[in-house]
Amino acid sequence: MRVLVLGGTVFLSRATAAHAAARGHEVTCAARGSSGEPPAGTTFVRVDRDAPDGLAPLAGREFDAVIDVARKPTQVRHAVAALAEGVKHWTFVSTISVYTDQATPGQNVRTALVHEPLAAEADAAAEADMENYGPAKISCEQAVTDALGDRAAVLRAGLIVGPGDPSDRFTYWPLRLARGGEVLAPGSPEEAVQMVDVRDLAAWIVRCAEEGVVGTFDATSPAFPRAEMLARVGAGVGVEPELTWVDQDFLAAQQVNEWSGPRSLPLWVPLPQYAGHLSHDVSSALAAGLVLRDLEETARDTLAWARETGRDQQPLRAGLTVAEESEVLAAWRSRPA
Ligand SMILES: NC(=O)c1ccc[n+]([C@@H]2O[C@H](COP(=O)([O-])OP(=O)(O)OC[C@H]3O[C@@H](n4cnc5c(N)ncnc54)[C@H](OP(=O)(O)O)[C@@H]3O)[C@@H](O)[C@H]2O)c1
Repeated sequence: MRVLVLGGTVFLSRATAAHAAARGHEVTCAARGSSGEPPAGTTFVRVDRDAPDGLAPLAGREFDAVIDVARKPTQVRHAVAALAEGVKHWTFVSTISVYTDQATPGQNVRTALVHEPLAAEADAAAEADMENYGPAKISCEQAVTDALGDRAAVLRAGLIVGPGDPSDRFTYWPLRLARGGEVLAPGSPEEAVQMVDVRDLAAWIVRCAEEGVVGTFDATSPAFPRAEMLARVGAGVGVEPELTWVDQDFLAAQQVNEWSGPRSLPLWVPLPQYAGHLSHDVSSALAAGLVLRDLEETARDTLAWARETGRDQQPLRAGLTVAEESEVLAAWRSRPA
């Protein structure tokens, strides 16, 4: 197939382009090139989708399948206007942040309610404000399904993890557990988590194009307990973790942030308001061909990537530093009975 990846210079879109090329497809990556290099074996076309005629360098080229990961509705509208005709299959990568109800566990893609779409002119807001991320992605989804109808797959990804992740939201855990010693585990052991290895999602995206899979799916793993996640990450990096579970109220009082960024504990969300965020019912994705590797392998490979790239020697974008973790654990031990 002739496959166009709109993106292809970083993380998921790059992994998708690499996988499609490894499967023998003729792959074009179209991006500015400011986030990184496209994978070997692909053709790069420089485009700037923020410019009104930004896709002009693709004019005259024909594709069987298009894969887009954009966040801005105008970019997606321009892409479908320029490229949808003649394309057999289009995959749009969306997000589980499109759902309005983040509190109810076990929701499924057929019945969960989504945000109202972001207004057409609000692209700047889509970038500036995380509150607009879900509504912007709904606008993008609608632009794709309006133009492509039954030629489109919309994959609403959960947390994407693994080698190449620029966010460190999972990478923190393999690195932390590999370091050994007493590990601060957030919340409680039975709280649900779910995530998808970037390579598994990339493989499914390519498979959707190859097999003509269409429709809207939540693209992540089945939910499983956080204690199991930490045990399996530990197994993947060759340690048996020594965990101290610290409840969310105590963590909040210590100014530990949930989910991402500095002084945070990744894969921890506040309850009950986010009890549904990491517990979607993904049976339809699994039935439609999403295949998941073992988390142990994801953890092992993420650690190896972090070490190879020197990421383990730099401040991470998410998680606690060594000093912050020690400080919170000391406060936990000396808390009033
Ligand atoms: N990470 C997660 O855990 C997570 C969770 C749920 C859903 N998602 C979704 O998964 C997808 C992740 O995609 P990704 O990993 O490939 O990362 P990304 O940061 O969304 O990639 C964006 C791609 O678009 C290109 N791009 C950005 N601005 C551009 C412009 N003005 N003109 C042309 N190209 C432009 C970038 O390349 P250049 O900068 O080189 O131009 C890059 O290749 C997104 O759709 C995201 O919403 C992510």
